[in-house]
Amino acid sequence: MTSALPLPINPPQRLLMGPGPINADPRVLRAMSAQLVGQYDPAMTAYMNETMELYRGVFRTTNDATLLVDGTSRAGIEAALVSLIEPGDRVLVPVFGRFGHLLREIAERCGAEVHVIEREWGTVFTPSEIESAIESVRPKILAIVHGDTSTTLAQPLDEIGAICAANGVLLYTDVTASLGGNEFELDAWGIDVATAGLQKCLGGPSGSAPISLSAKAVDVINSRKSIEAGIRADGDEVSARPIASNYFDLAMILDYWGPKRLNHHTEATTMLYGARECARLLIEEGIPEAVERHRLHGTAMATGLRALGLTLFGDQSVKMNNVVGVEIPDGINGDAARSAMLTDYGIEIGTSFGPLHGRVWRIGTMGYNARRDTVLLTLAALEQVLRRGGVGVTAGSGAGAALDYYDSEVVAA
Ligand SMILES: Cc1ncc(COP(=O)(O)O)c(C=O)c1O
Repeated sequence: MTSALPLPINPPQRLLMGPGPINADPRVLRAMSAQLVGQYDPAMTAYMNETMELYRGVFRTTNDATLLVDGTSRAGIEAALVSLIEPGDRVLVPVFGRFGHLLREIAERCGAEVHVIEREWGTVFTPSEIESAIESVRPKILAIVHGDTSTTLAQPLDEIGAICAANGVLLYTDVTASLGGNEFELDAWGIDVATAGLQKCLGGPSGSAPISLSAKAVDVINSRKSIEAGIRADGDEVSARPIASNYFDLAMILDYWGPKRLNHHTEATTMLYGARECARLLIEEGIPEAVERHRLHGTAMATGLRALGLTLFGDQSVKMNNVVGVEIPDGINGDAARSAMLTDYGIEIGTSFGPLHGRVWRIGTMGYNARRDTVLLTLAALEQVLRRGGVGVTAGSGAGAALDYYDSEVVAA
């Protein structure tokens, strides 16, 4: 090596109050520093089984097929869609933000005949809009985002499962941004497949994608199962219509996580330790309690932002608990203000994509960072940034309103 050896990793202290990733819970980081074991060590297979059971609790399901896909949330989405979709299948994608476009693009790459319905960013669909689209498109799969981080809104899904079931449609949803911080009931809402990530309300780093599949979805996937040459035994399946990806072939991944323990990839042990701890902490807290914590701190943040004179973005009746969009006031350069938050206070808040870039900041209160101190610090820092940018803000108004809100919640309880 000709240049000097880089220094050891020693990242600056940051408070990550954007739309995710957020600071990982130190207990998750500690779990991730544990030594490795072999992939078929009984300790490892026991951790895998425990992880499956913990995520059944997080997804609120009894689905056997509840496991991890190695990779970021997008890996979970790709695994679900490439394993469910055969070329030519009709897929309906309702799009109300950036991540709906991602589902559409992945479904197209899988060779699906994709039909899209769109809503203006800042709004969501009514169940009847989705029902009419299903009746006219007659898709095999409805692929829809639950919480679209790009707009901060959550599509209500509680009625969609019944509509899909009545029409013989499989329902896939991306709950990366919403799981753990917003109500989500996989079984009660009739969802066939859901995929997530760790880096939002679950309080971990990105790099592991929890997934849960109904028995119906597993049947669809297993109908295309092919066991790899080299580990195939006499009588093992070889499909004439194999799943188009090897790495994301959920039929094979299910055999790896199931009793057969049929070799596929080498499980990402350190990420499994992290994912297991994220779920363990959530179950220890209680899912309704975790959702309530996100609601409390998310509302305190929104209350403080309003008190700073800012306008919240989008239909607030369907806002995710864990992230809020806020319009950048006139005269303020959004990127310069974010940079001041980072350099002067060590606090990261989020920018926006596409039509919202330069118009909206996204401020998160999620996972380990869904706390009173983080909310108050962020509001106090933002007040100073706004004042220095020339916005007329009453001193102490943001953090003060959040404190009043917290007091009112204590009185109400
Ligand atoms: C709703 C949603 N889906 C998918 C993704 C993609 O996740 P990842 O970057 O972990 O692949 C994100 C990331 O922010 C997201 O918010």
